[in-house]
Amino acid sequence: MADQESYETTRLRLRAYRESDAPRVLDIHSRYDVRRWIDDPPVTPMRDLAEAREWVHVWDALHAADPRLGAWAIVAKDTGVVAGTVLLASVPNSDGLVQIGWHLHPDSTGRGYVTEAAPVLLARAFEHPMPEVYALMFIDNAPSAEVCERLGMRDLGIVEKWYEGESRCFRTTYEEWRTR
Ligand SMILES: CC(C)(COP(=O)(O)OP(=O)(O)OC[C@H]1O[C@@H](n2cnc3c(N)ncnc32)[C@H](O)[C@@H]1OP(=O)(O)O)[C@@H](O)C(=O)NCCC(=O)NCCS
Repeated sequence: MADQESYETTRLRLRAYRESDAPRVLDIHSRYDVRRWIDDPPVTPMRDLAEAREWVHVWDALHAADPRLGAWAIVAKDTGVVAGTVLLASVPNSDGLVQIGWHLHPDSTGRGYVTEAAPVLLARAFEHPMPEVYALMFIDNAPSAEVCERLGMRDLGIVEKWYEGESRCFRTTYEEWRTR
């Protein structure tokens, strides 16, 4: 946690998760309506603080093992509240592809927080450098697809690889991002 970079935007601070965030992590991840968009079936909402602390440790270990990747808490500067997460992670079952992801507490949607936070991680990804970044979602996840569209990611349509079943797939390359 100590060496994970923090970032600032106009309204937000992006920082590593801490154990003290566990109650908020649990509040977000114990919700079926959040986890149903994240989990491969079966949907498994978090049950207790121990699981929330473990979630923080897993992301910390992932960043330590590969500093290109990680999860950042999106903190609203005006309230100090953790609104949710932006993350960079491996695309499962791919040969080293990287995806960006996000989730918000329902009390923090509709404010443009992810649209403001995600460009920081895309810029970070391209600095490391990565040639391209994907975003993958269930095909009926309209709010997530709209984030990708607002970010100017290219819509590659529906794919049937990497995850079981169909996924909606967006991607941006370094060149597209640089000249957006
Ligand atoms: C996907 C998810 C993060 C999108 O949340 P979101 O609030 O729609 O996204 P943003 O934070 O970018 O906010 C955009 C919304 O804020 C509004 N908004 C308000 N102020 C804004 C601003 N300054 N800038 C941009 N948008 C703003 C936009 O109009 C938009 O609302 P609308 O969709 O009603 O038009 C959220 O629905 C979520 O957490 N879902 C559950 C988990 C999930 O699906 N994760 C993705 C898995 S692939």
